[in-house]
Amino acid sequence: MNNTYGRMDAAFAQSLVDIVAAELNKNVNILDDKGVIIASFSRERIGQVHESGAKMLGAGVVKEFYVTKEEECSLKGMRQGYNVPIMFENRCIGVIGITGDQKTAGPYARLAARFVEANVQSNAQQEKLVGALHEKEELRSVFLNKIIMVQEEERKRISRELHDETSQSLTSIIVGLRMLAEQVEDSKDKEKILKIRDLAVTTLEAVHHIAVELRPVLLDDLGLVAAAKKYIENYAKQYEISLHVDFSNLSRERFSPEVEITLYRILQEALTNIVKHAQATEVSVSLNKRQDKLMLMVQDNGVGFDTKMAESTHSRTCLGIYGMGERVALVEGNLTITSVIGQGTKLFVEIPLEEINNLDIVD
Ligand SMILES: Nc1ncnc2c1ncn2[C@@H]1O[C@H](COP(=O)(O)OP(=O)(O)OP(=O)(O)O)[C@@H](O)[C@H]1O
Ligand SMILES: [Mg+2]
Repeated sequence: MNNTYGRMDAAFAQSLVDIVAAELNKNVNILDDKGVIIASFSRERIGQVHESGAKMLGAGVVKEFYVTKEEECSLKGMRQGYNVPIMFENRCIGVIGITGDQKTAGPYARLAARFVEANVQSNAQQEKLVGALHEKEELRSVFLNKIIMVQEEERKRISRELHDETSQSLTSIIVGLRMLAEQVEDSKDKEKILKIRDLAVTTLEAVHHIAVELRPVLLDDLGLVAAAKKYIENYAKQYEISLHVDFSNLSRERFSPEVEITLYRILQEALTNIVKHAQATEVSVSLNKRQDKLMLMVQDNGVGFDTKMAESTHSRTCLGIYGMGERVALVEGNLTITSVIGQGTKLFVEIPLEEINNLDIVD
């Protein structure tokens, strides 16, 4: 954004000059703090330096002054008339000059100067507010990024712990119970032990599922493509939905952790939404790289929904789509969701890749 803080708005100044010049039928000029004419009764003068005005401004003259008829003759470039400084925050930012006698030109020049000052003041205030808003928006985005990163780290930690500690312990219990079952003679006791072992097996599966949902080890170890493929494979096993997958132009490429986690989380949310809301029988997922962009498309043939309605009515309770948008914005990408009632929903994400992200893993 151009910083115009404390500068006169040339269009506003020109409108004012036109009004005053028409009203008084006099010459009117507004100079900036260097003496350059920014608005004038005569358009050709705009942009020219008003030599005597510039001299006065250069000499630090910031008071009203009247140029008399005699001075007009003696001072080159000066016209008989009234000049009023335009002030902003105790500094002179320009001068308005109106030709004519002091009695007529004076009050008009003063009034016009106050108008310009009010305009500069209000523009500066607006700019300050916009600046503060931008700063707040930037802070919000930094904060959000931090929250997402901390949340991901925490998920990673819990997931690893579940994987490495809890799963290992459960596996030892399962093995121990099986050995114990082999040692006992009584078939009833054996059955009881095997039942407990089965329960431990189910618990181990549940723990594994939670660990993967939290943060698949594959994502960090082998990357987005491997983790997404695995996620889709499990999803297809779990739900009765026919899945078409196209990851054809990607193999073992790795992208930056932010890009990988963003796309993985979006895929997760999109596929969860399909199960929760779409009643779809077919789903297509494609992940492709084209030039310097990574693109994810998830499409279903379900019931569809009114995206505008969802945006306005669910915004506080349904955070899935909102969260996808926020995540994509943090990596400077684009998210588009189109949906037709009765026909299905298509989600499209596009994320720009930086050079450094396209690291091909060499075998
Ligand atoms: N694939 C889809 N098919 C049909 N409707 C959908 C689909 N995806 C989202 N919706 C609709 O959009 C709404 C908003 O989705 P969003 O993911 O933001 O929230 P949610 O899934 O309801 O809750 P959350 O994700 O916060 O647990 C859903 O409630 C649903 O009505
Ligand atoms: Mg959702």
